[in-house]
Amino acid sequence: MTLTHEPFGTTEWWRTAVIYQVYPRSFADGNGDGIGDLPGITARLDHLAALGVDAVWLSPFYRSPQKDAGYDVADYRDIDPLFGTLADADAMIARAHDLGLRVIVDLVPNHTSSEHEWFRAALAAGPGSPERDRYLFRDGQGAGGELPPNNWQSVFGGPAWTRIDDGQWYLHLFDSSQPDLDWTNPQVRAEFEDVLRFWLRRGVDGFRVDVAHGLVKAEGLPDWHGTVEMAGSTDPSTTDPGAPEDGQTEASTNGPMFDQDGVHEIYRSWRAVLDEFDPPGERHTRALVAEAWVEPLSRLARYVRDDEMQQAFNFSFLTTLWDAAAYRATITESLRTLDAVGAPATWVLSNHDVVRHPSRLGLPVPGTKTNGIFAHETQPDEALGLRRGRAATLFMLALPGSAYLYQGEELGLPEHTALPDDVREDPAYFRTGHAEAGRDGCRVPLPWAAGEPAFGFSPTGRTWLPQPTSWAPYAADAQAGVPGSTLELYRSALALRREHALGAGGLEWVAGYSDDVVAFRVFPADGGAGVLVLANLGTTAVPLPEGADALLASTDLPGDETLPADVTVWLRA
Ligand code: BGC
Repeated sequence: MTLTHEPFGTTEWWRTAVIYQVYPRSFADGNGDGIGDLPGITARLDHLAALGVDAVWLSPFYRSPQKDAGYDVADYRDIDPLFGTLADADAMIARAHDLGLRVIVDLVPNHTSSEHEWFRAALAAGPGSPERDRYLFRDGQGAGGELPPNNWQSVFGGPAWTRIDDGQWYLHLFDSSQPDLDWTNPQVRAEFEDVLRFWLRRGVDGFRVDVAHGLVKAEGLPDWHGTVEMAGSTDPSTTDPGAPEDGQTEASTNGPMFDQDGVHEIYRSWRAVLDEFDPPGERHTRALVAEAWVEPLSRLARYVRDDEMQQAFNFSFLTTLWDAAAYRATITESLRTLDAVGAPATWVLSNHDVVRHPSRLGLPVPGTKTNGIFAHETQPDEALGLRRGRAATLFMLALPGSAYLYQGEELGLPEHTALPDDVREDPAYFRTGHAEAGRDGCRVPLPWAAGEPAFGFSPTGRTWLPQPTSWAPYAADAQAGVPGSTLELYRSALALRREHALGAGGLEWVAGYSDDVVAFRVFPADGGAGVLVLANLGTTAVPLPEGADALLASTDLPGDETLPADVTVWLRA
């Protein structure tokens, strides 16, 4: 047995919380226009309370031209009419709190929309103006400035610079409709501190910080020959081996646009803003969560030091392939590096930017391919993927720390891999010249009721992306109360996780099982025995320990004292 992590003796909610991601445009549509909205969310919050999660995180609902589904914010203090009004946001927050759910909202500080009033003013004011200084405008290279200021590529494909009529270029690490802010400008810092206070005063419990590793760029914006990718999956084999290492420091392999030391000062100042809202005598009641695709994990841990953020998404876990040794290594490294700074580990398998995990796990190399799947590509095995997806979720939910669920995974939803190309909206599909399917396939509106139009997503039957006709069995009402359904598996797992305080537990690896089995015990601080978790990632059944007392299994056990392939079980330890 190897002790990897001591139990926490703390009650700060975010250390152990299960946080459910709502993607507003696809959760529930209250007004029938085919796009989800805040009243739709509020009406369905009881589903989340019944599921047993602790908090919701909502992707952006701010005023936005929706060029990147709301991650292009035109006004950080208002709701887009697509989603409702500020009064609807207040009602959603109040209802969530009534149900005992905390609310985390999305903050997008790396860039604004090109329709934000600051960017419009920057275009109007001209080169050298204070208005331009809030963004990263530069003159181009070449005799007439006709070449971009450096060689950076957008994360969504194509150049990261766009030239405007007067000849200057502006930087956008994402779409050209998402100009990057200049975080060395004090006005930018003051503005976002004020935006934080605006939402804290409305009662939110925390912020998920978009592209948290991107705000500060290396001095001089040096060229870089690496590849910028989402979800921490930068593949070293795609970088040019002969290229000079300009812009790279020893500690960072993420390029001069990411993970610069200067970002940490920003998060310290935000921490202080959040602390202003702690009730007397309490500490860290509001949380900051970094979305930072930073490797290795020791670099990520810097974002969650005591005076910075509370959590960072663990994309190393999300991108781990279906391999027991790989999971053991990622889990051990996550717990060790985060324990070293006193922060909880986080665990996540799916979100709005990656192929849903049951579909990834149903591919010939299970766990690969985060960037969308076209109909003409190798299709996932839906049944095998779901079986593995449930097994993966069940061992994730036993791990100490905080876990993130993405809407619809509690229904076992697969990726929509047969979307017609003419309905796609993701800028990544367009900017890669259609080389990447992009993220629309994981953003399809949820099925709530098997027999209703749009499976109950919208009262009119409209949906902004088509749902697969085969989704009726996945609908929430087709699974509620049905033993063995994915929805009931999630509910049982969350109830047991709470009962056994698994999120606050210690973890030790248990020896004596095949290398293909992820085997660990999670035990409470009071010295109780806890729960033994066995996940069989191999291809053949393995024996269960004698007298095994199963609390929950991801698939019905055969009753012959074995654990079949692709199944996880929680046993009384
Ligand atoms: C969000 C994406 C978004 C990008 C640009 C991300 O990391 O999760 O959905 O496209 O930031 O804001």
